[in-house]
Amino acid sequence: ESLVILISGQGSNMRALLDAKLPVKRITVISNNPAAAGLEIARSRNITTHVIDHRLYSDRTTFDAALTEIIEACQPSLVALAGFMRILGDNFVNRYQKRLINIHPSLLPAFSGLNTHARALQEGVRIHGCTVHFVTPQLDHGPIIIQAAVPVLTGDTPETLGARVLQQEHLIYPQAVRWFLEGRITVAHGRVLVQSATH
Ligand code: GRF
Repeated sequence: ESLVILISGQGSNMRALLDAKLPVKRITVISNNPAAAGLEIARSRNITTHVIDHRLYSDRTTFDAALTEIIEACQPSLVALAGFMRILGDNFVNRYQKRLINIHPSLLPAFSGLNTHARALQEGVRIHGCTVHFVTPQLDHGPIIIQAAVPVLTGDTPETLGARVLQQEHLIYPQAVRWFLEGRITVAHGRVLVQSATH
């Protein structure tokens, strides 16, 4: 079993996955950003890292092809996007769909896209949260695996709300990856079914 984690920045979700003692033989971390702080976290844990600097590629297709080449070499059971800030093309998504997941900082389908916490505050919602979902060609709209909700509190800023959501991300992402690696996730009619634990 091999897990590939794609990051672009701080890598706190990647760290939560690395600390979760997942049932996987090998983990590889790949970043499109050579300065991603998450790369240091991975290296300090002796995790293999690769950088595919998107600025060196003329277009999305060639970037996705270079990324695919590295990922294919890992023969991944699962590819987990964790704070990965590039939009992946349909060819890439179709190649890895059913074993390509993402964590999004909102209760999808609400607030797909960027700046989710500021938008949630702007809308005055009382409940916000995060979602782990399968990645499909339609951005932030794949079958939902697990969600967590947090209250929006008086005086919240995008930062305070975001920090509360991030705490929950670090709980639900390892849970979703563990379920997947245990083979307990199936998708029927676009909806995820998680089999109960087989004792
Ligand atoms: C965070 O906003 C998180 O909600 C989203 O990506 C951003 C960075 O995450 N998933 P990470 O700390 O790099 O995992």
